[in-house]
Amino acid sequence: MEDKKNILTGIRPTGNLHLGHYFGAVGNWVKSQEDYNEFIEIADVQALTDNFNNPDKVRKNVRELTLDLLACGIDPNKATIFIQSMIPEIAELTVYYSNLVTIARLERNPTIKTEIAQKKELFGQTGESVTYGFLGYPVSQAADITALGGTLVPVGEDQLPLIEQAREIVRKFNSIYGETLQEPEHLLSNIPRLKGLDGNEKMGKSLGNAIFLVDSDEVVTKKVMEAITDKNKIHKDDPANPDVCMVHYYHKLVSKDNIETITDECKKGKRGCIQCKKELAKNMIEFLRPIKEKRKYYEDNPEEVDMILKEGTKKARFRASETMAKVRKAIKIDYFNE
Ligand code: TRP
Repeated sequence: MEDKKNILTGIRPTGNLHLGHYFGAVGNWVKSQEDYNEFIEIADVQALTDNFNNPDKVRKNVRELTLDLLACGIDPNKATIFIQSMIPEIAELTVYYSNLVTIARLERNPTIKTEIAQKKELFGQTGESVTYGFLGYPVSQAADITALGGTLVPVGEDQLPLIEQAREIVRKFNSIYGETLQEPEHLLSNIPRLKGLDGNEKMGKSLGNAIFLVDSDEVVTKKVMEAITDKNKIHKDDPANPDVCMVHYYHKLVSKDNIETITDECKKGKRGCIQCKKELAKNMIEFLRPIKEKRKYYEDNPEEVDMILKEGTKKARFRASETMAKVRKAIKIDYFNE
């Protein structure tokens, strides 16, 4: 186990997982837990940067997210799930890292820049309502990534600037205090971001186009029936272009066994959209069934979930405390353990 490479990834507990999370991230983590020492952080401290006035929501979603992760097939015997806030060493490391980053550099971080612009658009906020904590979350994320000696970080494109920022912080740390920390690397997901059934470039909770893993069969069917198809197809037997159809896009993910027939029939006008959507709904429900069954098992065994979180957090904390011992020594603040 020890000679395997480390993976560290994180996710904010702000809501239930949807298919976008599954195909874009969590599905990959399920695969990579076989070959790596995998740590999955439930980033509640980071979630609080945006939700500091709604702690109930964050707390509830720590649980929901854990259930969703386990339901997807994260195996607690292979991967380690832990809660960020329960590792004070991460907060401690964040403080020392804060000295190594300028405010200007944070404001230039493309991820932060986009998020600040979105906030202003959504809430009409002025720059004055961007908190210190929010602006600084890349620093805290750098601490997440390096506290455990996490060397590989699987991320989508939008998170790349955060990894780059973490690398810069580590380089700066090492150049000032001596070679102490290892630079993290990203493991770029080769799966492009999942589009929404409404044709939007992204599936997202806030976009209102998400199919959640916990959605009932009826809700899944309803969402699928509203999906965007080739708008040039007017009649049931018109030939259509599957490449512009969101129903076809999702068939490629959940109807792999007969995707050729589906594509062929669609192109030849041998498949009406209603029938095609019904088939997609059925296959999607089948796809979600084992995930829901696993979720039900963990919902019925809450003490087991408690144990998984406790054990995972303990293991992660042990690793973080080893890193912090080195960091304190490097910064010469290791007063009482000479
Ligand atoms: N910023 C990530 C997100 O919003 C969550 C996250 C927190 C993370 N810590 C991390 C991702 C460390 C990768 C590594 O989804």
